[in-house]
Amino acid sequence: MLDQEARERIIVAIDCGRDEALSLADRLSGHAVWLKVGMTLFYAEGPSIVQEFINRGFKVFLDLKLHDIPHQVRGAARSASLTGADLLTVHGMGSGAMLAAAREGADQAAQERSSRTRLLAITVLTSMNQDSLEEIGVSLPVAEEAARLAGLAKANGIDGVVCSPREAADMRKLLGPDALIVTPGVRPAGSDLGDQSRVSTPADAIAAGASHLVIGRPITAAEDPVAAYEAIVQELLSV
Ligand code: C5P
Repeated sequence: MLDQEARERIIVAIDCGRDEALSLADRLSGHAVWLKVGMTLFYAEGPSIVQEFINRGFKVFLDLKLHDIPHQVRGAARSASLTGADLLTVHGMGSGAMLAAAREGADQAAQERSSRTRLLAITVLTSMNQDSLEEIGVSLPVAEEAARLAGLAKANGIDGVVCSPREAADMRKLLGPDALIVTPGVRPAGSDLGDQSRVSTPADAIAAGASHLVIGRPITAAEDPVAAYEAIVQELLSV
């Protein structure tokens, strides 16, 4: 893989407060292409944090996991897309109608700005297991439920899924070569696992079919975040 392609595939999860987030962004500027903003940072800072990252030249993955009635999600997807984010998450469990509404909202925003926000579906959260699915009345095995929701997302205009690196190969077969397959739970060999348990290395996740890797603390908590980021780029050059 070429250097720029490797950078396009790494999304750095910025899970901290505003000051630390902006300081990390300044350090990673000129190295990283993507930053991920999750609910904790977004609900504290609002759309301005997305703008601050875009102003520094980053693409933004806005991980808001929308889930509501279709009318509300259409509006939320439009508003979230108008921030200038390049990627946005919605819950597959919200129904085909809700996924289609998210697509419509993002497409409305695309007519008002120059580029289109791509949508990713969350299938089954990795914090859920068979027992928690049964608790909410879902009797399918986790992998089957995830595949079902991924198919529903694809049928309703969603561009891809977020899934564990271990599911990436199956999702790639199911969704085809053009789908976005974004995998958290990625740890460079030898790094601290944190609270992640089912992990893959960056190279393995890409080989399994991931299009993008979400990597947080191995970069953001490193003594030298730029060096940690560049080491992952080097690892991907060999893929
Ligand atoms: O620091 P770390 O690399 O574990 O960060 C991973 C990021 O991916 C976090 O923002 C986390 O919320 C997110 N994520 C995850 N597992 C999922 C879905 C999202 O770790 N199944």
